[in-house]
Amino acid sequence: MSRNANVTRPLKVAILGANGQVGAELCLLLARRTDVEIIPVCRNRSGSAYLRWMGLACRHGRPADAADGSRLLRDCDVVINSTLATGTPGEIRRAEDRIACHAFQYSAPGATVIHFSTQSVYGDPRAGRLMRWESPYGRAKLATERSVRRAQQRTGKPAYLFRLGHVCGPLQNISSDIQAEIRAGRVVLPERDCASNTVFTVTIVDAILKAISGGVAPGTYDLMNAPQWTWSQVYAYEAQSLGLPLVTRMVPAAQPPQLKQRLQRQALRALGALTGLPLVRQQGNRLMAHLPDAVNRRAQAWWYARRIRTEIASLPKLPPPAEHLSWVANGRAFIDGLTPTAELLRSLPYAGLMRPVHTSWPPDLPDAEPPQTPHERLNMERMVAETSS
Ligand SMILES: NC(=O)c1ccc[n+]([C@@H]2O[C@H](COP(=O)([O-])OP(=O)(O)OC[C@H]3O[C@@H](n4cnc5c(N)ncnc54)[C@H](OP(=O)(O)O)[C@@H]3O)[C@@H](O)[C@H]2O)c1
Repeated sequence: MSRNANVTRPLKVAILGANGQVGAELCLLLARRTDVEIIPVCRNRSGSAYLRWMGLACRHGRPADAADGSRLLRDCDVVINSTLATGTPGEIRRAEDRIACHAFQYSAPGATVIHFSTQSVYGDPRAGRLMRWESPYGRAKLATERSVRRAQQRTGKPAYLFRLGHVCGPLQNISSDIQAEIRAGRVVLPERDCASNTVFTVTIVDAILKAISGGVAPGTYDLMNAPQWTWSQVYAYEAQSLGLPLVTRMVPAAQPPQLKQRLQRQALRALGALTGLPLVRQQGNRLMAHLPDAVNRRAQAWWYARRIRTEIASLPKLPPPAEHLSWVANGRAFIDGLTPTAELLRSLPYAGLMRPVHTSWPPDLPDAEPPQTPHERLNMERMVAETSS
């Protein structure tokens, strides 16, 4: 598999952030293939313990450090950036910038770079918003996308930006949460079934393979299931993979209260708190005794209605469906030609994925060979100087 017809060996594919929830599952899926050789890159050996326990040899180092970039990536034909930096906004920005740049600068000449971004770049996903403000996460990912495009233009290497939706698969939090709801028999879905923006890891692998074989033009894409799945389809798949029936309770979607309702509620709460004060109650009762009968009866009816409402509110009730089940459907630039996700899942790609297949821990992967010729050494020195300036 190669966009370069001269390369006949399996392509070397580095996965940065290999021990993250998305990176680790992609490593396990790609390791089963014979047409790619994966280089899982983790920052340290404790981080890579799970992958090594699963039999995958790893390379160790910090892709954000210029000093490590070359030995980690120099021999890689493809670099998949699945890192997600943490820290203060400034630290995140700097780390993500450097990793994005180094993926281009230190990979093999002509290498392909695949960068994972997110649907959060489209802003607030709640329905009915006039403005879709971005969260700090969405803003940081947009800034990193810009760094990726700049590095792409500087180096001329092909780049793919995949804006992932909620990632599903056996190692993904969202799939574990859905399966826990199904096992406990407490699935609550909104009556109106919405597009889910989810993407199973098998579809991410499909997109990666199509990109590196030249079947998709470089660019920025929304990467969701092909075609998009609704939430009921996601729940039905997870129930089927557990071998359990899907018992759902359908309720109206959770509606975020409008400003007017919020103000009314606050005013009523304040009034309720005031009338609950002993002094106010005492004085109120005294005053009521002097008012006409009709007013007394209305006040009493109001009081009974309030008490009943409080009692009803304290009865156990169904929780509203999770807010993300009604988020708006995204998706502007889908990848043409992806295999339908349902078809990929039909071949049971996750069967046995989490079972270690080795009897001993693999040795660590060696670093990439240092530059051999004077020309290569000169190129390398130039790249290091450019990145550190
Ligand atoms: N999960 C989803 O549903 C989802 C949805 C949309 C987009 N995405 C995107 O997919 C990518 C992976 O997400 P994830 O959920 O797998 O994240 P994750 O579980 O938090 O993993 C993050 C990975 O990045 C590494 N990392 C963090 N800071 C680093 C740094 N300074 N230098 C090098 N590596 C660093 C971590 O390594 P350590 O263990 O050493 O910290 C870890 O391997 C991200 O770009 C994210 O925005 C994910």
